[in-house]
Amino acid sequence: MNEMTWEELENACRSCEKCPLSATRTNCVFGTGNRQARLMFVGEAPGEQEDRTGTPFVGRAGQLLDRFLFAVDIKREDVYIANILKCRPPKNRDPLPTEEDACIDYLRAQVRLIRPKMIVCLGRIAAMRLISPDYKITKQHGEWVERGGFLMTAVYHPAALLRDPRKNEEMLADMESIKAKLDETY
Ligand code: URA
Repeated sequence: MNEMTWEELENACRSCEKCPLSATRTNCVFGTGNRQARLMFVGEAPGEQEDRTGTPFVGRAGQLLDRFLFAVDIKREDVYIANILKCRPPKNRDPLPTEEDACIDYLRAQVRLIRPKMIVCLGRIAAMRLISPDYKITKQHGEWVERGGFLMTAVYHPAALLRDPRKNEEMLADMESIKAKLDETY
């Protein structure tokens, strides 16, 4: 996928049939936000609300993410948000490696077009794909690494916080660190 325009990339993604998830999607969830963002968030895969609306992180987990963004004064419209998979896995099961392999070039192309300074993985699945296959989210969340010229970190997936609100405090600390780094990158 060499240097497509945004329009070409989005059209290719919306008509994609590279994996079986295309057969069960309502909408391809391409990604939203500022295409010149310095900060990009990458989640796992669309859920039910995202599949219905075509927009990432609009369900309960997305609303919790919005609250954390607000808490550290990052505007959602200033960042770009996408997922590893653009189509919803049935019953929100974990993405299969074959599905990730089929889909990952769309994300790579988005990153090339945006050229963000920072990429934040939302949850274990994105961190294992983008930072390290043996990433341990409980131990390593909030640690910063440099990969291919990008500053990268991972935070808990907001859905994990809904299941275990005791993690909220660590999430807030990680989000504060992200905001501080963001302010440094001007
Ligand atoms: N969870 C994700 O990982 N991505 C979304 O877009 C919504 C929920």
